[in-house]
Amino acid sequence: MSNRTFTMIKPDAVKAGNIGNILQMITDGGFKIVAMKYLHITTKQAEKFYEVHAGRPFYGELTQFMSSGPIVAAILEKENAVADFRKLIGATNPAQAEEGTIRKKYATSIGENAVHGSDSDENALIEGSFYFSGLEQF
Ligand code: CMP
Repeated sequence: MSNRTFTMIKPDAVKAGNIGNILQMITDGGFKIVAMKYLHITTKQAEKFYEVHAGRPFYGELTQFMSSGPIVAAILEKENAVADFRKLIGATNPAQAEEGTIRKKYATSIGENAVHGSDSDENALIEGSFYFSGLEQF
């Protein structure tokens, strides 16, 4: 059980003007931001980040979408971070997300679902280090 997870506020939520609202929900949820940046990744970088999904039918759509506009990438710290953050963001498909979750409030579809959250401690480390060097993590 690690105390860190990795998140991205996706292009749909950035375009809709929801960076502030989502960061507020994250900090209200007891997460501390230990690294954060605002950036626009290339399709090639999105393909690398989502390599584990290569070959899935939605891979092209996903990588195009994630490189369609700026995102916010962040590393978050809290006890039981990975599981607690997945609870806070809600189901991948916003139609199935519970009331009070970030995706219930701000996601519009399974692809444009406002936020990413790591699914394991191992992936949290891999994903966090894709965006941040050791010197950028506090
Ligand atoms: P994320 O948690 O960022 O990790 C993988 C992403 O793939 C997931 O969020 C969804 O946004 C996306 N995804 C999963 N299933 C589908 C799908 N059927 N169609 C489009 N995108 C999907």
